Amino acid sequence: MMIHAKIWASYGDTVKRVPLGEAVSRKSPESVVFIVAPDGDGNPNVMPAGWSMFTSNDPLMIAVSVGFPRHTHGLLEDADEYVIAFPSRAHKEDVVFCGSNSGADIDKIEASDLTLAEAAVVSTPLLEDAAACFECRSGPSLETGDHTIFAGEVVAAHVSERYDERLKNLGRDWGDGPERFKTLSELLDSKLTPP
Ligand SMILES: Cc1cc2nc3c(=O)[nH]c(=O)nc-3n(C[C@H](O)[C@H](O)[C@H](O)COP(=O)(O)O)c2cc1C
Repeated sequence: MMIHAKIWASYGDTVKRVPLGEAVSRKSPESVVFIVAPDGDGNPNVMPAGWSMFTSNDPLMIAVSVGFPRHTHGLLEDADEYVIAFPSRAHKEDVVFCGSNSGADIDKIEASDLTLAEAAVVSTPLLEDAAACFECRSGPSLETGDHTIFAGEVVAAHVSERYDERLKNLGRDWGDGPERFKTLSELLDSKLTPP
């Protein structure tokens, strides 16, 4: 087999093998979503997720990847509808709080500053001050390793009149607190090194 000589970089000089996590950390900054999922009585729980993507234009669909142990995992297995929201800079504390507490233990809406807003089509509420909110009807799901990908069809969308930018997760170097989350504008205005 003929392999073109030009594709071979000098391994070790410009490319090196690393532990998986070291390469994964280069995904930062990563966008964050809130998954607002209802329980059987319609009470919403909020969980931040970094692993999300749009998967279809027509119909518009969005998917999130949720670990098996998460309370949200059980909720999404049973839910017919839910809301995906893009947190804004108003939500830095809420991302940390909702990402480090489980709805299995506490009512995160009650315990946080999050304000709900009425949705247009589904019963699950929107989050006020989210840069965007997408009302979803549950679609297909796929187990991948220790997470399940849940895809939902967007049936209505909303934007904030006050906040037009979503939060990025800058990565662990920036800490575990709210300072780890910034909008792109905030990031460009700040020093480009961790605090
Ligand atoms: C920035 C951030 C991103 C996260 N991304 C994910 C994710 O994509 N998938 C996941 O299963 N958990 C993710 N987590 C962890 C969950 O949000 C966390 O375990 C949460 O407490 C689960 O809440 P629940 O038990 O109420 O569902 C993330 C946490 C943070 C702070």
